[in-house]
Amino acid sequence: MAKTVPLDPHWVNLDVPALEALVRHHDHLYWDKHEPEISDTDYDRLTRRLKELAPDSPALREMGPSGGGDGEVGRYGTPVRHRRPMLSLDKCYGDDELREWVASFKGDVVVSPKFDGIACSLVFDEKGALALAATRGDGQVGDDVTANVRGIADVPKRLREPPGREVEVRGEVFMRLSVFAGYKDKFANPRNLAAGAMKQKDPKKSAAYGLSFAAYELLGTDHATERERFDALSRYGFPAVERRAVGRDDAVAAYRDLAARRAELDFEIDGVVFKADDVGEQRRLGLTAHHPRYAIAYKFQGDTGTTVVRGVEWSVARTGAITPVALIDPVMLSGALVSRASLHHPGFIKKLGLTSGAEVLVTRRGGVIPNVEHVVKPGPTAIELPAACPSCGGGVHGSGDFLYCDRPSSCRAAVMGQVAHYVSVAGIEGFGDRMLGELYERGLVRSAADLYRLRASDLLAIDRVGDKLAAKLVAQVAAKRTLSLEVFLRALGIDELGKHVAKILATEFKTLARVLRVTAAELAAIHTIGPVIAETVTEGLARSRPLVDELCRHVTLEEGAAAAAAPPPAGPLSGQSFVFTGKMATLERKAAQERARALGGLTPDAVTRTTTYLVVGDDKSDGKKSTKEKAADKLVADGASIKIISETDFLAMTEATKKP
Ligand code: IVH
Repeated sequence: MAKTVPLDPHWVNLDVPALEALVRHHDHLYWDKHEPEISDTDYDRLTRRLKELAPDSPALREMGPSGGGDGEVGRYGTPVRHRRPMLSLDKCYGDDELREWVASFKGDVVVSPKFDGIACSLVFDEKGALALAATRGDGQVGDDVTANVRGIADVPKRLREPPGREVEVRGEVFMRLSVFAGYKDKFANPRNLAAGAMKQKDPKKSAAYGLSFAAYELLGTDHATERERFDALSRYGFPAVERRAVGRDDAVAAYRDLAARRAELDFEIDGVVFKADDVGEQRRLGLTAHHPRYAIAYKFQGDTGTTVVRGVEWSVARTGAITPVALIDPVMLSGALVSRASLHHPGFIKKLGLTSGAEVLVTRRGGVIPNVEHVVKPGPTAIELPAACPSCGGGVHGSGDFLYCDRPSSCRAAVMGQVAHYVSVAGIEGFGDRMLGELYERGLVRSAADLYRLRASDLLAIDRVGDKLAAKLVAQVAAKRTLSLEVFLRALGIDELGKHVAKILATEFKTLARVLRVTAAELAAIHTIGPVIAETVTEGLARSRPLVDELCRHVTLEEGAAAAAAPPPAGPLSGQSFVFTGKMATLERKAAQERARALGGLTPDAVTRTTTYLVVGDDKSDGKKSTKEKAADKLVADGASIKIISETDFLAMTEATKKP
């Protein structure tokens, strides 16, 4: 059976070109080589991120076999052009997203399982005879699979009720799990096997696989509702596909219901499909090039199961946050026995309405991290928040959704977490939890800075540490007395100050002194950093000031290397900085930056309080303000003196200040 490998966790830091390359790579593995390396959920994560960063990326449109769709054109049979394009489904992953979509139209919602098979279009003539069956292909052109589809028992060769005109039925060819059971040892999953069966040249061989068909779309009729269409499909002789019309407030519950019954079904589903019931509303909503707006798929995340919460364990994170973990009756999820699931913070417990003894739905997000999704049935006992810190017994205080230890700097768990994080980010080896625990108990290491004070003689006092090891450990620490600013910032263990933000801080602000002066507004002005993260990071930096000062007595920072490498020459624009935003009409952004630099100007990427000019490109197609413009507006309202000028202004200005 084909195994997938988890995504490198650093994928979140990839920029658009790198993401595009990755998506294309996995498209190729999946569609052309039939050897996917990552799970579908991970693939979805990649494409969602790309959609967020670059909604118009061509890589999103190309998704599918060397150019889009469910099967490479020509792979199954003669190419045939679809009467109407076979689109994809838009996806959502959370209740709020689903509710938002439901709010976009009037009337009921029709709910059906999202079959994980091969999408097919069947054309029936006016007398009801099956005329053509085709795979989705690239959405425009698919492959003729009529001969093989005739071998599928679920597909009527002639509709029981002549439609009186040509109609098209779309649905999924799939293999029931009870049928797949006979092939389990040889094939990875029923979907791939169904695809293989459809590709058989000999229709008899294809029929021998015992494929099934689920009809979920009817085109070419005048029905007023989706419900009526489904009913007509049943009258035509297709086996009824589970579908339910629910009121708009019940869509989320309908998702839960199917998710909970997933394991009982005799076929694989990877989500739930919702459609606006009213055909008038469907027309009004219309289509994008990729998907109809009247339908959406709420995809399952990893595997799902229900289990019972037996209690909650509280632990103290390095930030002093006291975090709950649900202790659950062991449940098999995505091939692993799961008995604990993070509850993130007390606010999450409240939001879930979680009680002890409750039956809950648990998933492994992205197939990995166990997460309690919602309560299926409440339990008898309320979950009490700890009144004292579970590690040091000291006081606690709440702040929003969170609960904190009052004195993390003297709380063993928080300090150990903090030091362990520093050691891991700085790359100091040999200091595992056991060693750090011993050092803590002996009062030798009570902060990351204490590591630099360790002497070999201190370490000798510890069990099983001899001269050699002691010397090695001291050398390990000594080797990390010089750190890049980026690593140093990340090692501080500040919430949200991970790799991405650390890199931005180091490249944008260059020196520690400057980083410590960064305001939340300046940080939020940088593309990809939101206001909440900006606030958390600047607050965290302020709170970590004593640790930073102490560390700086031992650590030498490599600062501003990039800035020092290529200072602009002195010129009429010296001391002024130019940030560019929007598409420029007359020259490339790079050329514009070079022009400013040639005159002594600086050209950082982000708008900050100290930016002199924000240059807005003249080629504005939508007239909307860019993130950088909005950021500059905010900073100006806040008292900064950034001048927002047009491309034309910039050209005139650099023209006027041209060196003689
Ligand atoms: S309705 C796109 N209903 O999933 C037009 N589609 O991943 C609306 N699919 O291309 C289709 N189960 O082929 C609909 N119950 C269901 C479905 C379903 C599976 C397929 C469909 C679509 C694909 C998107």
